[in-house]
Amino acid sequence: MIIAPKLAVGQALRASMKQQRACCVWFTGLSGAGKSTLGNQLDQALQARGMHSYLLDGDRLRQGLCQDLGMTDADRHENVRRIGEVAKLMVDAGLIVIVSAISPFRADRDASRQGFADNEFYEVHVSTPLSECARRDAKGLYRAVKEGRITNFTGIDSPYEAPLTPEFVVDTSSNDCIEFIEKLAKQLDVGL
Ligand code: ADX
Repeated sequence: MIIAPKLAVGQALRASMKQQRACCVWFTGLSGAGKSTLGNQLDQALQARGMHSYLLDGDRLRQGLCQDLGMTDADRHENVRRIGEVAKLMVDAGLIVIVSAISPFRADRDASRQGFADNEFYEVHVSTPLSECARRDAKGLYRAVKEGRITNFTGIDSPYEAPLTPEFVVDTSSNDCIEFIEKLAKQLDVGL
């Protein structure tokens, strides 16, 4: 067993130097639900309040850290595990970390949550219905599924397990996103 040495500079000092409370805000939902849009909007809203935040976006991480992973269940487990570990390190560095990833499996999200202290992890279910995500089809992926060019697609032939007790829920087809993000930023109350 490896016993990791404690860091000389702790999270409390790193976060207080930034005048903020470090935490992780995790957006989960179907492809096209609006996770990346909301994540970016929250990042901007926090920056505007003088906070130090960073967005870990599933699509971007899959171009680097997770480029060896595909869309099988096993690869999604590993993808979410890595995202959770990176988020944990970044929260330890005193940042407000925003994750936007489908993260379809409840157990994987719950395992990530376990890496954080109480009041350090906020799960946001972006509950936009499948029909609306498919109607938007911003990336043309739903069409590709229909034409049989993609398989293992979340919500179609790969499962999505909605959170049972998320801290927040938003359906971007029936809510004003900016209004939601302003409320969320206020409720997170991350400033010192
Ligand atoms: S996760 O399931 O492992 O959390 P992640 O959020 O990182 O997924 O990446 C999902 C992104 O990959 C989607 O936003 C979409 O652009 C793209 N993608 C490509 N193939 C699939 C697929 N089969 N199912 C879902 N998303 C896919």
